[in-house]
Amino acid sequence: MIEQKTEKMIPAMTPVEVHDYLRELGRNWTGQGIAMELGCWLGASSIPLLEGLVEAGYDKHFWAFDRWIANEQQVYEAKAVGVHLKLGESLLDKYTQNVNSTYHRLICIAGLMPLTLERYTKAPIEICIFDAPKRNSCFMNCVLELYKYWIPGVTILGLLDYNFYKRKSGRVKEDLRAPVDFIEANGKCFTKLEQFEPASPAFFRYEKPLKVINF
Ligand SMILES: C[S@@+](CC[C@H](N)C(=O)[O-])C[C@H]1O[C@@H](n2cnc3c(N)ncnc32)[C@H](O)[C@@H]1O
Repeated sequence: MIEQKTEKMIPAMTPVEVHDYLRELGRNWTGQGIAMELGCWLGASSIPLLEGLVEAGYDKHFWAFDRWIANEQQVYEAKAVGVHLKLGESLLDKYTQNVNSTYHRLICIAGLMPLTLERYTKAPIEICIFDAPKRNSCFMNCVLELYKYWIPGVTILGLLDYNFYKRKSGRVKEDLRAPVDFIEANGKCFTKLEQFEPASPAFFRYEKPLKVINF
């Protein structure tokens, strides 16, 4: 769902209070791992996170994953805020143009997750933002690719569609509960830091190794 345009006039699927929170997360970077975002679209959420990271002296690659192919919903939602996208066009150049002036050490992996996550080079992850994999099996397969690199007591996991399932019904609702089921099954392994309502983002600190990894 489109939220608005950012100050940089980029269509955003996240609200401004979440951008402020991401900026603060970046500012609190401790230097122990990289930051990544799964589901970057045009950069509206990557940019505030990177602004904070730059303030904190971030000196590592920022890993960005998306298929970056404009679909019907994206064309429609961008149009609603006066931005023209063509159905099927590659959005990767638009993403890098939007983000580069904030931070340029980007590794952008275009294509379908979870498969593309195999290209991640296995460094510890300090900030791990999920804004794409919502449904199972995609969600859990992405977790399975990445959790090995989370740092107990340090890694922040942002699930930007945490409560999205509440707006759905039937089988779709079941599939979209994947992030909630995952956190609840591993309740003692995470501390909830922040949850935004009525939007669905929630942020957690990964405290200790997962108990339930197979769903
Ligand atoms: C909710 S949008 C991201 C919005 C962005 N973070 C923002 O705040 O404006 C989700 C993005 O994830 C991408 N996406 C969804 N499922 C994907 C998958 N399985 N593999 C790769 N990209 C995916 C879509 O192309 C879309 O750009």
